[in-house]
Amino acid sequence: MKRRRTPPHTDVHWLSESGVIDCMVLLGPGPHQFFKQYADLTGYQALPPLFALGYHQSRWNYRDEADVKAVDAGFDVHRIPYDVMWLDIEHTDGKRYFTWDSALFPDPVGLQRHLQARGRKMVVISDPHIKTDPCWALYRDAREGEHFIKDREGQVYCGSCWPGESSYLDFSSSRTRAWYSRCFSLEKYKGSTPSLFVWNDMNEPSVFGGPEQTMPKDAVHHGGWEHRDLHNLYGFYQHKATVEGLITRSGGSERPFVLSRSFFAGSQRFGAVWTGDNVATWEYLRISIPMVLSLSLAGVAFCGADVGGFVQDPEPELLVRWYQAAALQPFFRGHAAMETKRREPWLFGEEVTAVIRSAIQQRYRLLPFWYTLFHRAHTCGLPPVRPLWIEFPTEESTFTVDDRYMIGGALLACPVTEPGIQEVQVSLPGPEEVWYDIHSKKVYGGGGTLRLPVTLDSVPVFQRGGSVICRSVGSGTCTADFQLLPLDITVAINSQGGAEGELYLDDGHSFCFRDRKAFSLRGFSMQAGRLLCRAASREGSFHCGTVVQSVTVLGMKKPPSSVTLYVPGEEDRSASFEFVEACGVLTVHNLELRVTADWEIHIC
Ligand code: NOJ
Repeated sequence: MKRRRTPPHTDVHWLSESGVIDCMVLLGPGPHQFFKQYADLTGYQALPPLFALGYHQSRWNYRDEADVKAVDAGFDVHRIPYDVMWLDIEHTDGKRYFTWDSALFPDPVGLQRHLQARGRKMVVISDPHIKTDPCWALYRDAREGEHFIKDREGQVYCGSCWPGESSYLDFSSSRTRAWYSRCFSLEKYKGSTPSLFVWNDMNEPSVFGGPEQTMPKDAVHHGGWEHRDLHNLYGFYQHKATVEGLITRSGGSERPFVLSRSFFAGSQRFGAVWTGDNVATWEYLRISIPMVLSLSLAGVAFCGADVGGFVQDPEPELLVRWYQAAALQPFFRGHAAMETKRREPWLFGEEVTAVIRSAIQQRYRLLPFWYTLFHRAHTCGLPPVRPLWIEFPTEESTFTVDDRYMIGGALLACPVTEPGIQEVQVSLPGPEEVWYDIHSKKVYGGGGTLRLPVTLDSVPVFQRGGSVICRSVGSGTCTADFQLLPLDITVAINSQGGAEGELYLDDGHSFCFRDRKAFSLRGFSMQAGRLLCRAASREGSFHCGTVVQSVTVLGMKKPPSSVTLYVPGEEDRSASFEFVEACGVLTVHNLELRVTADWEIHIC
């Protein structure tokens, strides 16, 4: 008798603590449409300020102002770009958020100005628990204003967290959210400046010794709702209130940056999240990739994991591999627990410093690409990092891959997550695709498996044939510097000789892109030896001096005899170029073409 084959299927089982489950089916039909449909329901990723896509330096805790200044200077001495210095709970007066330990941080405004003068920002922590301290005005204000969650007897609920006995703000109430938002105003938050941004931690909420380390389910919120009904939304609402506070602080003009540990469907509208406390082991480095991919699939696209592992001390090789992997993930922050050894990138000898510097510099050079991907996430719901099956939905072999992934549709990232590795195996998807190793520029056909030698300073990344990527050329100390650099455009041609890509530009920090359409979306297309730079959207106008300095074409079959530039209103001119026959790479130099203007390059 013939056995009937059961078609492959998936079972899903849901349980609800309270209330009903709303179930929506998104019909796609493809993954790209699915993201838009999901974003239409829950919201689009907020467009982060550009600095937030740079590297963030954190630890629990930078001791005092001198320590912060020394670490800040260390980045310059070692020529490593970075954008944000973070202060954990020890910067406060006895874990009273919105305050400063005046012995350790006597001049917080001066400290922020010191960083700001170098184009850098500061992030401080602000947790949802408020120390029970009737002598503290903020506590009294919250209590008198009825902003705390109550217990089942109707008394203010008290739990324990970093400050000891604490009460918890009821962010489910719009009145409390408005009150909390006001706490971030420059007048109320003494020692804060417009370059101070915020980190919401412990907002599950975390209650030491509480049931499942959180609040009792029968604690009562505004409107009589029990905590069991709102638990999963608690962090979401704190994130929202903080973001609104920062926006209001700027008079509505500046984009906020807030990182939250707890989140819900829709948290992408507010900012970034991270994967919480991880460990300095290879296993945790490995799982950071599927975690970031899962978050991205769930729409929460601005996400990352603590570089180096939060608890325990990473060996130098692990730290290097972690920097390299995280430089290819959306949110990029080094962070470490209190009892760990210091691990600023220059503390492990010149070889390690050089490799970390190179990983961070490469991240900064790719910022035009990352920023464009965030523009796409903001407008189409597509996450910047994607499992392979999003780009190759018909290839079943990609469905289970979670250690390699795509950055946009153009780059295939293959981080090294094992110790002592001298070779990695990479399966390149798409039998009709062409892939270019971004370092060696070697070309490979899709559909096969490669073995690539790696050293401590190499991580395989491939550019997909048919794509165009913009990179900054040169160096700088932070995103503000990189924003002024000229661009190189890398055109990776596909088997038909074509390629397409785009670049999004705006001021990098304000809401003018939204309110005054002060942005520019440029499109690049290569066909039959002609590279065109055109507007990719009829909307928007943004004037900036950014120029395209060079164009690199990967996959040229033969050396060109001439390269000519056509700019409307200017005389045609021929450009100097270089061709490397062995790998088919053409580089056209000294272009000085404004990226916001239309032009063409003809390669004959
Ligand atoms: C827990 C957070 O996950 C961690 O990142 C932070 O350093 C500590 N809380 C202290 O604030």
